[in-house]
Amino acid sequence: MPAPAVGEPLSPGPAMTTIYHLRPEGIASGDNGYGRTENPTREILESAIGQLEGGTCLTFASGQAAITALFMAVLRPGDTAVIPSDGYYSVRSFGGSILSELDINVIEASTAGPYPSFSGVRLVLLESPANPGLDLVDISAVATAAHAEGALVAVDNTTATPLGQTPLTLGADVVVASGTKAIAGHSDMLLGYVATREQPLLDRMSQWRKLAGGVPGTFECWLARRSLSTLALRLRQQSANAAALAPVLRAHPLVSRVRWPGDSPFAPQLRILPGLVSFELPSATHVAAFLNAATLVAAATSFGGVHTTADRRHQWGDSVPPGFVRLSCGIEDTLDLVADVETALAAASA
Ligand SMILES: Cc1ncc(COP(=O)(O)O)c(C=O)c1O
Repeated sequence: MPAPAVGEPLSPGPAMTTIYHLRPEGIASGDNGYGRTENPTREILESAIGQLEGGTCLTFASGQAAITALFMAVLRPGDTAVIPSDGYYSVRSFGGSILSELDINVIEASTAGPYPSFSGVRLVLLESPANPGLDLVDISAVATAAHAEGALVAVDNTTATPLGQTPLTLGADVVVASGTKAIAGHSDMLLGYVATREQPLLDRMSQWRKLAGGVPGTFECWLARRSLSTLALRLRQQSANAAALAPVLRAHPLVSRVRWPGDSPFAPQLRILPGLVSFELPSATHVAAFLNAATLVAAATSFGGVHTTADRRHQWGDSVPPGFVRLSCGIEDTLDLVADVETALAAASA
C-alpha cells in the first residue's frame, strides 16, 4: 500500500495507460515515459513483493517469462546451469531446447539430491518445495556449496510463496516465481517475478525485460496487489486443509505414496506449509472416478487458488505414474473438504 496521503485513495486503482504527459522541453530522468518501462500500478506491486522477498522485485507477464529472463540475463554459450529434474516441466523444456541450442550445458539434479559438483557451474536453480513431487532441499546448504564454486543460486519460490520462505535470507542470490499460483490466488491471471539484492543482476534482468518486453498488464498488477492483502489468510486455510488431508489420504487403502511437504526433514525451513499434497491412485481410471464423485475438487491444472483442484500430472508429460495426483487445497472449510475427499475415495474404490 502506498504511503498515506490525505484525499488520495487508500487503495489506488489501476493506472491504465501506455503513455504519460511528457515535459515539452523533453523527458527528464525519473519521469514516466512509456508503459513497457514505467507503470505506477506495477511499481506498487513490485514494491510489495520486494518487501516480502527481502529484495528488489521485477514483475513479468508469467512465471516462465521471469525464469527465462534470469536464464537469458545470466547464461552465455559455454556456461553450465543446474536445474531441477523434478521441478516445473517447462523450465526443463526450455533447458533442453533453447538453452541447449545456445550451447549452454544443462544438468538436471533431483531436488532431494544428490547434487553434482558445482565446479564450473554458472547458475544453480532450486525449486523447493518442488512441483509436482513436493520434495524440499536445504537451501542454505546448497547455496553455500554453490557459492564456494562461484555459482549463482536461484530459487523458484512459487510453491512456498514469500510468506512461506524468503530464499534471499537463506543465501540465494535471486528468487524467481510464478505469481499465477497462490500470490494471485484466484485462478484468473498470469504473473511472474524475480527478486534480488544484487544490483548488477537486477540491471541485467531489467534490461532483458525492457528489450524482450514480457511485462505484466496493468490490470493484472492491480489484481495481484489486491490478492496480496489476503495471501496470509488464504495460505493459512490451504495449509490447514492439506495438513488435514495428508493423514486421511495416507490411511486410505486405495492411496499410496502420499507426499506432503510437512514430512520433509527440511519442513522447518518453511514458516507456513503450502496447501499441496500429492498421492497416487492405482490408475488414471481411479483418478477419474475420484474426480467424478468429488464435489469440492475440480479437475484442473495449476495450484494455489481458492478452489481445491486435482491435477493428474502424467497427462502433461511429467515422469510420474498415470495415477499420480497433485492436489491443491483451496480455502474450503476443512471438515467439508475432508468429508468430500473421503466420499470420493470411497466411490473410486467401489
Ligand atoms: C514451480 C513453478 N515455476 C514456474 C511456473 C511457471 O509459471 P507460469 O505458468 O506463471 O508461467 C510454474 C507453473 O506451474 C510452476 O509450478
